[in-house]
Amino acid sequence: MSQVICKNVWKLFGNRAATVMESLDQTLSRQEVLAQTGHVVAVRNVSFAVESGETFVIMGLSGSGKSTLLRCITRLIEPTSGSITIGGDDILALDEKGLREIRRSKMSMVFQHFGLFPHRKVIDNVAYGLEVQGVDEAERHARAQEVIDMVTLGGWENHYPDELSGGMQQRVGIARALAVDPDLLMFDEPFSALDPLIRREMQDELCALQNQMNKTILFITHDFLEAVKLGDRIAVMKDGAIEQVGTPAEIVLHPVNDYVREFAKDVPRTEILTAAALMERGNEVTTAPEAVTPQTTLGTLIPLAMRYREPLAVLDETGMRVGVVTHDAVRMAAAG
Ligand SMILES: Nc1ncnc2c1ncn2[C@@H]1O[C@H](COP(=O)(O)OP(=O)(O)O)[C@@H](O)[C@H]1O
Ligand SMILES: [Mg+2]
Repeated sequence: MSQVICKNVWKLFGNRAATVMESLDQTLSRQEVLAQTGHVVAVRNVSFAVESGETFVIMGLSGSGKSTLLRCITRLIEPTSGSITIGGDDILALDEKGLREIRRSKMSMVFQHFGLFPHRKVIDNVAYGLEVQGVDEAERHARAQEVIDMVTLGGWENHYPDELSGGMQQRVGIARALAVDPDLLMFDEPFSALDPLIRREMQDELCALQNQMNKTILFITHDFLEAVKLGDRIAVMKDGAIEQVGTPAEIVLHPVNDYVREFAKDVPRTEILTAAALMERGNEVTTAPEAVTPQTTLGTLIPLAMRYREPLAVLDETGMRVGVVTHDAVRMAAAG
């Protein structure tokens, strides 16, 4: 099931946005629209569907419209046109009460600047969403403790945010988002303010958490490597529009234009390309002597392809053959 669906979403900033939108020449660039109308096209005709349990990353340079798009989805700002549904609910049709309800129980946000309450202990920061829901103290503390342990902050619950490092504060932010057990988690560059080493650690932890939780996640970043690491699929944005949507491997192997190719250029292909992305599907029996799994990386496939003359069989976890990886596929992926 699709959890989030955006259809032809536009956001224009300016004081006559609706009128400008009506008569907009959609072939004009952002600069041309700005020059002719004084309006900023922050989001341009964006459509995508995020599946339940999927981690969908929106990636693009600063100013490409990522935060604006996310704010439209939560309706912190009103899109100028288009439609948005979350869990089947038409977000744009909700009144204040309906919005409050859905924000409280169905979605959580994590921001770059952690937005913790300085005068609340960690546990009361984490329990905040439950407090707003009217959950009594014993119950909300029990639940908060659970998620504090999940983000490996056990022992810190009675400290205040300023006693914690940046990485730890962002763990509190994540725990707070998880406490209400939302269907949809949204992250806007949550690790951008952290040191590179801590940042990588946090990415690994989020991957591990997501493996247990299987939430629907919308994750925004300007860092392509982060997108590749976290995303089941990535949408690459430029000047408000989505240039390409695909799995990390699809985007790295088949970038649609130079803009996307430039990002894809520097990724460590041997680590991110897997047998699943390179194989020819099918379960016909070949004489393939060597079996790999769909998760086997290119780095492991290269020496195997060199050692064996036959294509490599790809077996799923039940041992069923799901495809083969040919030597040509390995050679082409390695060569780029
Ligand atoms: N409130 C606003 N008023 C006018 N322009 C805005 C406003 N918010 C964002 N913008 C513009 O919209 C564009 C997209 O911004 P944003 O969504 O913040 O990009 P990103 O999150 O990808 O860095 C930018 O050109 C930005 O200057
Ligand atoms: Mg932003």
